[in-house]
Amino acid sequence: MCGIVGYTGDADATRILVDGLLRLEYRGYDSAGICVAGADGGLQTVKSAGKVARLLPLTTEVHGRCGIAHTRWATHGAPSEVNAHPHLDGAGNIAVVHNGIIENYRELKASLLRDGVEFRSETDSEVIAHLIARYYEGDLVRAVVRTIGRLRGAYGIAVISRHHPGEIVCARNGSPVVVGLGKRGNMVASDVTALAAYAGEVIYLRDGEIADITPDKVEVRNSVNIPVVPDVTEIPAETVNSGKGEYAHYMLKEIFEQPDAAANTLRGRLDRELGTALLSGLNMTPAAMAQVRQVVIAGCGSSMHAGMVGEYYFEDIAGIPTSVEQAAEFRYRNPIIAPNTLVIPISQSGETADTLAAVREAVNKGATVAAISNVVGSTIARECGRGVYLHAGPEISVASTKAFICQVITLLMLALAFGRNRRMNREQGAELVRELESVPELIRAVLDQAEVIRRIAEKFAAGEHAFYIGRGPLYPAALEGALKLKEISYVHAEGYHAAELKHGPIALLGENVPVVALANDIPGREKMFSNIEECLARHAPVIAVVTGDDRTAERYTEDIIRVPPCSRFIAPVVTVAALQLFAYYLASARNCPIDQPRNLAKSVTVE
Ligand code: F6R
Repeated sequence: MCGIVGYTGDADATRILVDGLLRLEYRGYDSAGICVAGADGGLQTVKSAGKVARLLPLTTEVHGRCGIAHTRWATHGAPSEVNAHPHLDGAGNIAVVHNGIIENYRELKASLLRDGVEFRSETDSEVIAHLIARYYEGDLVRAVVRTIGRLRGAYGIAVISRHHPGEIVCARNGSPVVVGLGKRGNMVASDVTALAAYAGEVIYLRDGEIADITPDKVEVRNSVNIPVVPDVTEIPAETVNSGKGEYAHYMLKEIFEQPDAAANTLRGRLDRELGTALLSGLNMTPAAMAQVRQVVIAGCGSSMHAGMVGEYYFEDIAGIPTSVEQAAEFRYRNPIIAPNTLVIPISQSGETADTLAAVREAVNKGATVAAISNVVGSTIARECGRGVYLHAGPEISVASTKAFICQVITLLMLALAFGRNRRMNREQGAELVRELESVPELIRAVLDQAEVIRRIAEKFAAGEHAFYIGRGPLYPAALEGALKLKEISYVHAEGYHAAELKHGPIALLGENVPVVALANDIPGREKMFSNIEECLARHAPVIAVVTGDDRTAERYTEDIIRVPPCSRFIAPVVTVAALQLFAYYLASARNCPIDQPRNLAKSVTVE
C-alpha cells in the first residue's frame, strides 16, 4: 500500500528519497511524489501518476537537504498527478504525506470549504495539510498535535514546512511509522526497508505518538505533546533487501529461497531428544500450554490459508479444537472467546489492518494472543508481545510465497509443541521432528521439477479459467494455489474442496476450464481420483499433483506434477511450492508484471 519516506541531514535529500521510494515499490502503488525544501526554504514538489520511473526525470530539478516522498495506492480519488502526495496547503507552506484513511474527512473538508479553503485533489489526505496550516502559530509540532486531535481513522503522516528548514514532524495512528537514526541525518518511513541502507537504528512510533525529527535529534512526544523516552532498536540484518540477483522476478527468487527460508524458520527450534519444538517467543510455561482449551487462528489471504492448514495440525496432532477466522470479520461478529483460548494472528507483514483489529479484539476479550509474523518489530508482533517470528527474510514480491511456507512450518512446530504437552509421546514427537528437519530438502526436490512445471504451465497459459481441488490439509493448498494464479496471471481461478465441486461449481467445467487436482498420497487420495473422473467426464483437462512415481494419474492425464513422498503434514508445503511455480511460469508466459500485480498491495493497512 502507500509508502512514506522522509529525510533530513547534510546529504542530497532527493537522491535518498528516490532511493527510498524505489525500495518501497514492492508494496504496490499507482502514483508517486516528492517534496524537498530548497536552500531558501521554498517547497519544491513534483508528482506523477504511474511508477517511480515516471517521476524520476522530474526530480532532477528538485534539490535540498530535507524532504518527504510518497507512493500512493488510491483509495479516495483516482490515481493521478493531482491526487498524488505530497499535498500542500493553499499558501504552499506546508507539505504532507499520508498513509491510511481519514474517516471524517468529509466533515473536515466541509468546514474548511466554509472557511474559504480551496481543495485541489479528491483525496481524504489533503484536509491534513489545510488543518495544519489553520492551526499553525509558529510551532509545527503543536499544529500537528492539534490537527491529529481532529482526525478519525488511520494515519501515518510526515510533514515539512517552509518555515521550519530541516525539520520533519511525523505521527501515527494505526498506520506504521518508523524513524531511522543515521550517520548523515535522520529519516522516517512507513516501512523499515526504505531506510535500512542509511540508518543503523530505528524507533517504531506507537499509536498516538509524534516525532520531531531534525538532522541531529529526534524527539518523541505522546498525543498531548509530552516528551516520552522512545525505545531505540537496531535494524535487523534480515531487513536488508539484497536485490533480485540472477532471477527475473523477486517472486521466483523467493520461491527458490524457500529451502533456506524454511531452514531459518526451523533453526534452533527443534529438539530431537525431547521430540518437540522449542519456541521461546511463545513465552508460555508447560502448565499454561496445558490449560489451552481452544485455538483461534486469524489472518487474511495467504496467511489465512496457512491458518487453515494449521487447523488440521492443531486438531490432528494436539487434539485442541481449532477454528480459523477471516481476520476482517473477527471483531464485527462479537466472537466468543472462551476462557483458556489461545488466539494466533498470522501476518507476514505484521501490519495488516484487519488482522491488527482482530488482535485488539482478542486482547480486549482476555485471550492469550501469540503472533506469527515475518517482520521483526511490526505492529502486530509488538502488540501481541509474544509469538514466533518466521525469519524468512524480506518478502518483496507482492504475492506471498516463502512467508506462506514458513507460516505453515511454524504452525506445525506449534502444534508439535502443544501435542507433546498433552497426548503425543516422545517417539511420535521425534518422528515429526525428523519430518520437519527434512522440509528444506523436500522443497528442493520440488524446485528440481521447475522445468516440468514450466512446460505444463505454458501449455495452459492461454486459458482464462482454472479450478483447484484438494482434500484434507490439501484443501487450503488448493485455495492458496488458486489465489497465487489469479493474483499474478489474472486468470480466474477458484479453489474448492474436491467434494464440493459437484455441489455447484461443476456446472462451469468444460474443455477450456482445466482442473488442478491435488492427488497426493495422503488419506482421501482414492476419492480424489473419483473426483478427477468427474472432471474428465465434463471434458475438463486435468493437471494432477501426485506423490513420487505414483502411476495412477497417468490413466487420466499426461500433465502430472510430481512432489516428493512425505506425510500428510508436510504434503501442503511441497504441494504449494509446486503450485507457486505453476502460477509463476503461467504468469510469465502471459507477460504479466509478476512482482507488482495490478491493484494489489504488499501490506494492506486499510480495512
Ligand atoms: C497473497 C498475499 C495476501 C496476503 C494478505 C495478508 O499472495 O500476499 O493474500 O497474504 O494480504 O498479508 P499479511 O500476511 O502481511 O497479513
